[in-house]
Amino acid sequence: MNYRDINISIGDVAAALPKATRVFKEYGIDFCCGGHRPLAAVMKEQGLPLEEVYDRLDQLVSEQENPAETTDLPFDQMSSPVLSAYIEDTHHSYLRRALPEAAELLNTVLRVHGSKHRELFEMYQLFGRLKTDLEQHLLKEENLLFPLLENSAAACSCSKDTDSASEARSLTEEIISEHEAAGEILRKLRSISNDYTLPDGACATYQKTYSLLEALEQDLHQHIHLENNILLKDYATH
Ligand SMILES: [Fe+2]
Ligand SMILES: [Fe+2]
Repeated sequence: MNYRDINISIGDVAAALPKATRVFKEYGIDFCCGGHRPLAAVMKEQGLPLEEVYDRLDQLVSEQENPAETTDLPFDQMSSPVLSAYIEDTHHSYLRRALPEAAELLNTVLRVHGSKHRELFEMYQLFGRLKTDLEQHLLKEENLLFPLLENSAAACSCSKDTDSASEARSLTEEIISEHEAAGEILRKLRSISNDYTLPDGACATYQKTYSLLEALEQDLHQHIHLENNILLKDYATH
């Protein structure tokens, strides 16, 4: 893959080179909801040092060519059923543990510190929306999308345009727009909390809450990247 190709998308790079997501994170390049955009154009738009980023990617390629140094799974080579099972076991299970835990922690922090830190009210409201949205989103993927992808992949070997493939395309659009809405809430939470900067004298619960919210954000970015840029790539229209 030629990363310097001006048409190559951020998601394609991240799919071929899983560790690239760390470089993208470092430079503030959106690889999940913005994964369909061309890497070169986004870097220019954000005023990033193109050659520096390309050098980092070259370095990752040489590391990847030495399997002893690679621990990342080859997501882009997995079949849809294998990848969706991985996503469900890893990222959906994580969210089912982390969402209620973070909601409870935020509730405690709001009760104790809300009078001095008013931003916690908005964070609580936003997080509640994110939690509800994601709870239905996970079920939509597990009960509708993943089985449909499996049927559609099986059907595609004999016919290009099947009912299940067109249904998978329309459901994919819905799923991707839900990812965008979740990404927007994560951005707002990060901005309101001033990049999860703890106030002076923050208690242990405050610290635990912010560190869980950051971990949840990181996990969700990787989760959305796997779905948008790999699992749903053939069904997305952008
Ligand atoms: Fe998912
Ligand atoms: Fe999803």
